[in-house]
Amino acid sequence: MSFKFNKENEEKFQKLLRRYPKIDSLMLPCLWMIQHQEGWISPETMEYLAEKLNKSPMDVYSVASFYTMFHLKPVGKYNIQVCKTLSCMLRGSEDIKKHIEKRLKIKAGESTQDMKFTITEVECLGSCGTAPCVCINDDYIQNTTPQMIDEILDGLNRWSN
Ligand code: FES
Repeated sequence: MSFKFNKENEEKFQKLLRRYPKIDSLMLPCLWMIQHQEGWISPETMEYLAEKLNKSPMDVYSVASFYTMFHLKPVGKYNIQVCKTLSCMLRGSEDIKKHIEKRLKIKAGESTQDMKFTITEVECLGSCGTAPCVCINDDYIQNTTPQMIDEILDGLNRWSN
C-alpha cells in the first residue's frame, strides 16, 4: 500500500486520537483529510484508513459512500455540485444544472476530458434559504442564476489557463 497521510494530516490524526474517546469518531474527519490530500477516496485509501482505525474496508466504504460530499472516483479540479433537493429544485436548480451541462458539454456525474470540471448532483447543501445553491469545491454560490454561472466559469477558465 503506497498511500499514507502526509505529515500535516498525520499530525491532525494524532491530535484527533487524543481528543476523541472513541476511535469511530475519527472516521469522518479522516475521510475529509484523505479527500483534501488525494482529491478523492480510492479503494487504497479506504484500506489505509480501515487499518488505521482498526475497522474493515467495508466499514469505511459504507460511511464514505453514504455521504455525497465524498468522491469515490476522481473529480475535476473544479467540482461543481448542484443541489437537487426540494428548496433548490423549486427555485430552478434543474435549469441551473442544464445550463452548466450545456456550457461544459458534459452531463451531471461526468468530468471534462481535461479534468478541469466535474458536475455532481448533491443533496441539500444546508443553504436552502438562498436556493438555488451551487457549491464549487468549498465555495458556495447562492441564489444562483445562469448569468452567475457564466461569469464564474469564464473566470475559472481565464485563471487556470
Ligand atoms: S435544498 Fe438546496 S441547499 Fe437545501
